[in-house]
Amino acid sequence: MATNRVDALKKKLDRHEARPKAQKQEFRPRPKTPAQPQPQAKPKAVEPKSTEAPARPLLDRRGERPPERVPVILESSGAGDFHLIDSGDGLKLEQYGPYRIVRPEAQALWRPSESAQVWEKADAIFTGDTDEDGMGRWRFPREALGETWPLSLLGVDFLGRFTAFRHVGIFPEQIVHWRWVKEQQEAAGRPLKVLNLFGYTGVASLVAAAAGAEVTHVDASKKAIGWARENQTLARLDRAPIRWMCDDAMKFILREERRGNRYDIILADPPKFGRGPNGEVFHLFEQLPLMLDVCRELLSEKSVGLVLTAYSIRASFYSIHELMRETMRGAGGVVESGELVIREAGVDGKASGRALSTSLFSRWVRQ
Ligand SMILES: C[S@@+](CC[C@H](N)C(=O)[O-])C[C@H]1O[C@@H](n2cnc3c(N)ncnc32)[C@H](O)[C@@H]1O
Repeated sequence: MATNRVDALKKKLDRHEARPKAQKQEFRPRPKTPAQPQPQAKPKAVEPKSTEAPARPLLDRRGERPPERVPVILESSGAGDFHLIDSGDGLKLEQYGPYRIVRPEAQALWRPSESAQVWEKADAIFTGDTDEDGMGRWRFPREALGETWPLSLLGVDFLGRFTAFRHVGIFPEQIVHWRWVKEQQEAAGRPLKVLNLFGYTGVASLVAAAAGAEVTHVDASKKAIGWARENQTLARLDRAPIRWMCDDAMKFILREERRGNRYDIILADPPKFGRGPNGEVFHLFEQLPLMLDVCRELLSEKSVGLVLTAYSIRASFYSIHELMRETMRGAGGVVESGELVIREAGVDGKASGRALSTSLFSRWVRQ
C-alpha cells in the first residue's frame, strides 16, 4: 500500500519531468560591471533513480495523526554576521561579516529597494547557472578575496567560503532551526543527543554542541566533513562531543536502527538528489518516506523533535507535512510545517523589508 503510493508519486514526477523545460531566465547582474565571459552551459547531470530495493518496508503506523499547525512561517531577519540587505531582479544582496555578496535568487521577482550605489558596493558576485545547484563563478569587483573568511553566528565562529555552486558555507535560513535546537538544549537540563543528517559545514552541529548537546554529524562528502572539522577548531569546540561521520545518510540511520541507538533531536536537510561516499544514490522523492520512517524509530523515549527541510523540490509544504503526520501517527506532539523565509533588513540590518522564501520545512515536536 505504502509502496504503491511512492510508485504513483514517482510516475507522476516522471511525467512532469518529461515535459519540455521552460526557457531559462537570463541572468542579469544588476550592478554596472564589465561583462564577464559566462561559463559554458553544462549539460544537466542526470539524476539516476536508485535501482536497489528499499532496505526495509515502511512500518505500519497506527494511532492518531499528531495535531497540526499550518502554515507556520519561520522567519529570520539575520543573526550575528549575517543579514539580507535587499533582493530583486532575480538577485539577492547579502551581508556576511565584512563582505557584501550578490547571488542569483529566482524568487526575487520584484524590483530592488536599495539604490544602485548600494548594490555596486558588492565585494563578491556569483554569476552562472540560475539553477539552485548550477555551476558558476565568483567575481570580486573591489579586490581579490581569499576562498574563506571568518564569520560568527549564535556565538559560534566558523568560516564563510566561496564555493563553485554559489553557496557560502551556510544556509542562513536554517538559523531558525539552529536557534530552536539551542533553546531546546538550554531548557533540557541534560545533554541532548542530536543527530544532524546531511550536515554540510557543521554549523548546526557546532551550535548544538556549544549549547551542551552530544552531536552525531553525518555527511557523504569528505571535503564537507573537513570544512566542518576546521569550523570546530575555529569555534574552539575541539573537546566538544561531536562524532563526525563521513557516510551515506540512509545507510547510517538504518545501521543505527539495527544497533538500537537513539536520539533526542534529529535534523534532516536532504538535497533533492545526492550521492553517498560509495556512490549510493539519494533521491528525495524515492527515499524520503523510508528516511522519515527510520528517523522515527531513532527517536528516544524523551525525544524533543524531528526537523526536516526540503529545498528545490516540486512540492508544497503539505506533501512533507502529511508525510510527517503519517510517520508520527500515535506519537502525540504536534506537526508544524510551512516555509523558511528570510526578511530583508536593509544596509544597517535593522529595517524590515520583504520576505524571501527559501525552503519548505516540517517538524514534529513533542511539546
Ligand atoms: C543541502 S546541504 C545541507 C546544508 C546544511 N544542513 C546547512 O544547513 O548548512 C546537502 C549536504 O548533503 C550532503 N549529502 C548529499 N548526499 C548525501 C548522502 N547520500 N548522504 C549523506 N550526505 C549527503 C552533501 O555532501 C551536502 O553537504
